[in-house]
Amino acid sequence: MLLLNPGPVTLTERVRRSMLQPDLCHRESEFYDLQDEARTRLLAIHDLDPAQWAAVLMTASGTAAVESMVAALVPEAGRVLVVENGVYGERIAQICARYRVQHERVVGSWMTAPDLEEIEERLDLAGTGRFTHLAVVHHETTTGRLNDLPALSQVCRARGVKLLVDGVSSFGAEAIDFADPALTAVAATANKCLHGVPGAAFVIVRRAALSAAVSRTFYLDLMRLAQLQDQRGTPFTPAVHVYYALVEALREYAEQGGRPVRYARYAALAEQVRTGLAAFGIEAVLAPRKSSVVLRA
Ligand SMILES: Cc1ncc(COP(=O)(O)O)c(C=O)c1O
Repeated sequence: MLLLNPGPVTLTERVRRSMLQPDLCHRESEFYDLQDEARTRLLAIHDLDPAQWAAVLMTASGTAAVESMVAALVPEAGRVLVVENGVYGERIAQICARYRVQHERVVGSWMTAPDLEEIEERLDLAGTGRFTHLAVVHHETTTGRLNDLPALSQVCRARGVKLLVDGVSSFGAEAIDFADPALTAVAATANKCLHGVPGAAFVIVRRAALSAAVSRTFYLDLMRLAQLQDQRGTPFTPAVHVYYALVEALREYAEQGGRPVRYARYAALAEQVRTGLAAFGIEAVLAPRKSSVVLRA
């Protein structure tokens, strides 16, 4: 079976076989070695300092990582402006509503980029209280659009607003500027651009934001997960074999040259798909410069 969606992806034999390693109890040091390696390698993708950033793992799909991020990092008195131009932006707003996180939505058409002017106006509007956070999907998989993270980040930076990113379908391939002080957390998953198997997700979060956070969820409590993982622990039973696959996929990723190489490979494949379909008279929904390299709609 060849999977042509942007994740889960067709595994390499190496990653598939890695799941056949010995059974491990998650209370043994061998598991914590595995967990440590996954966390270290996730930060290494963007060369992040572990004193400033934490990679927090969870046994779940990508939505759980987004949920964990939103439910923890927006304080009781905080307020989020959610950018919506597709299904996954809508999902962030649904998560906010479910946890009663104070939020408003900037709703755009699926076919258009987020309206930066409107976002600036909404952020600047006093009255019901200032927004503390902006939440956005980096690659809106609904249409394949790559939302303009640098521009959105600049808008946030100028106003001291923190940026929360759903990077589920972009992390590992598209560029993300973690040096940007507005960027607070990115939620992502093992089974898209990293080529692991479904069942492991994670949030890359600034430690400063983590220390000030209070989670609204028990199982997906980002701080508790981070704290225990930092101490070579885990609150619950993780999907050990899925973690084997994640670590193997991350080793393979690094050996192949990391993010620039994966980006280049996807860009070449995306162009091949676009030109191949164009030959049949099938046009792309978005121009390549508006689209991620991960998906051609
Ligand atoms: C941008 C984005 N966010 C969230 C998700 C949800 O991920 P999951 O199905 O792993 O929960 C997806 C899935 O495709 C996605 O593309």
